[in-house]
Amino acid sequence: MTAQDGAFPRAEVVVDLAAVRHNVGLLAERANRSGARTMVVVKADGYGHGAVRVARAAVAAGATWIGVCHLEEALALRRAGVTARVLSWLHVPDEDFAPAIAADVDLSVSSLRALAAVLAAARSVGRRVRLHLKADTGLSRNGCPPEHWPELVAAAAAAQAAGEAEVVAVWSHLASADEPGDPSVDQQARRFAAAYETARAAGLRPMRHLANSAALLTRPDLHFDLVRAGVAAYGLNPVPWAGDVDLRPAMTFRARVAYVKRVPAGEAVSYGGTWVAPRDTTLALVPAGYADGVPRALSGRMEVWLAGRRRPVVGRVCMDQVMVDCGDDVVVEGEEAVLFGPGDRGEPTAQEWADAVGTIHYEIVTGMARPRVVRTTKNDTADTADAGGRADTDGGQGNGRLTPSGVGS
Ligand SMILES: Cc1ncc(COP(=O)(O)O)c(C=O)c1O
Repeated sequence: MTAQDGAFPRAEVVVDLAAVRHNVGLLAERANRSGARTMVVVKADGYGHGAVRVARAAVAAGATWIGVCHLEEALALRRAGVTARVLSWLHVPDEDFAPAIAADVDLSVSSLRALAAVLAAARSVGRRVRLHLKADTGLSRNGCPPEHWPELVAAAAAAQAAGEAEVVAVWSHLASADEPGDPSVDQQARRFAAAYETARAAGLRPMRHLANSAALLTRPDLHFDLVRAGVAAYGLNPVPWAGDVDLRPAMTFRARVAYVKRVPAGEAVSYGGTWVAPRDTTLALVPAGYADGVPRALSGRMEVWLAGRRRPVVGRVCMDQVMVDCGDDVVVEGEEAVLFGPGDRGEPTAQEWADAVGTIHYEIVTGMARPRVVRTTKNDTADTADAGGRADTDGGQGNGRLTPSGVGS
């Protein structure tokens, strides 16, 4: 199933890489003012935006590091020709670290067990491994707890002395930097300072990194040598309370009106008949439902931008579709309905969806990697086929296919 020339697909996520470049430029400038470099985090396929293209755009805009969770994510970047420094930080015990070390990927370790595995892999490929030692300073996830930190540092220092490893960094992750004035941030900063001092006392001279987007935007004192920007690079502000920042949301979710019809007053609409037309009205069917990333919890609580303005979605969100009340306005089959976007035209935003369903915008955009939603990019200067701002289907990232639905639910 393909759209006619000039038309866009049934349901589509459009990623504006000019927005990513703008955001990364702004963030890198802030980091730079503190003397820090910038890592852009592209885990989870670039928070649903496309890891490779975002990584390329980020590097073009001043990022010198790329961050991922998993080894496969790091290797996919290398295969796509991303040569920036890449750090991978969340691994299971029996992973094969050798390909990542051979591909020049920096690795985080938080335990003696992980260090031993990584060193064994380094020996097998005959290379030094670049290590980031992760300290748990209060998040209680995959950092090394304080009681085991000295032994991890000592073992890493020994590996460095033996020429098997280079200890690049001591690092940690903040739990609540997005909460105004949360005292845990300073407590984590103090524990981080102690962890760093232990490394220095062991003769190491690593760099430090701690700040996520929220700390990047609010705590320049915690920028240290490198900041790790995730959500803000995609134009979503984790600290709206801290004042305006000129971030541009990069993702737009849109679909094409599949069907338009009049229904008489008193007619019930969608499953359960939870909405009944109060007057004769025109309904537009927008073919994107909860299988395509529209939370069912938005039933009765969402709008789309259609035919020049916002209009309410009425009745329940279905698996494949929503119905939009257009009153007596003329709406044409095939026209664009924007479910969320940057908000420039007055369309809803990912932040609004998140607020309405009680989650965070991170989850909304990351959840847009859906098999039936085509992802396209625009303003991709790294790809000559995209030059001139034309949107092109993003084929190679597992989400560029439009598969026939054939589902009638
Ligand atoms: C270890 C680590 N650093 C940095 C980030 C980026 O965080 P944010 O998207 O809030 O900037 C993440 C994302 O959760 C992370 O897991």
